[in-house]
Amino acid sequence: MAGLRGSEKRRYVAAMFSRISGRYDLMNFLMTFGMDSRWRRKAARLALEGLEGPVLDVATGTGDLALELERTPGAEEVIGMDLLEPMVSRASVKGDGRRRRRRVSFAMGDALSLPFRDDSFACVTSAFSLRNIPDLEQSLREMARVVRPGGRVLSLETMPVERGALRPFVKFYFRRVVPLVGAVVALDMSAYTYLPRSVEGFVSPEELEGVFARVGLVDVGRESTGFGAVHLHWGRKVTA
Ligand SMILES: C[S@@+](CC[C@H](N)C(=O)[O-])C[C@H]1O[C@@H](n2cnc3c(N)ncnc32)[C@H](O)[C@@H]1O
Repeated sequence: MAGLRGSEKRRYVAAMFSRISGRYDLMNFLMTFGMDSRWRRKAARLALEGLEGPVLDVATGTGDLALELERTPGAEEVIGMDLLEPMVSRASVKGDGRRRRRRVSFAMGDALSLPFRDDSFACVTSAFSLRNIPDLEQSLREMARVVRPGGRVLSLETMPVERGALRPFVKFYFRRVVPLVGAVVALDMSAYTYLPRSVEGFVSPEELEGVFARVGLVDVGRESTGFGAVHLHWGRKVTA
């Protein structure tokens, strides 16, 4: 399943996220011991640092990063976009509960062919999603296309822990504990067996940095958190 490619991967991922959308937030909270909101806050701050303007969150899921971006100085209008209707409806319900909801909206769309013009956004983000999209380079190329010159593309992603004393513990946690929690809480062990496999099958932090550069982004940087399992990558679009 984690070895799936192209349209097969797209179908698998779509069916799986549609199934678990109702338990997605609770699972995130439990799996990360609540740390995911801190990571999103940091991602939003880094994405908008020194920038002002409209913001796009690609593959927004239930919208947590889009809502965090809305609260971050510099964000004007925020759009959260996802392939799946069940995710977009949940995000919209959450957005409706906020007082300042008029600055955030949610829509359906494909990360591989973003329905926006070139140079539209001050920053474009993606959280825990690049791993799930069938063509990593194409999705980053699209993010780079729709960001303005001088704007920023940022990814927050779970990646394999390659070295260090904590590596065996993180591996055990992902491989053994997460699927069990998924079975009990989301009643879907296979979705949470896919998760560690998708992480292990994903590129390394160094390789992702290379993809950022290949799609034309400059000043590419990265930082890790979450015991070395969670990485932030960012890059800027060259000013014309
Ligand atoms: C692990 S979730 C991450 C959701 C959210 N960004 C977060 O931080 O919780 C991955 C999301 O990617 C979405 N997705 C997968 N393939 C996509 C595609 N081709 N275009 C847009 N969204 C996609 C899924 O529907 C799912 O909501």
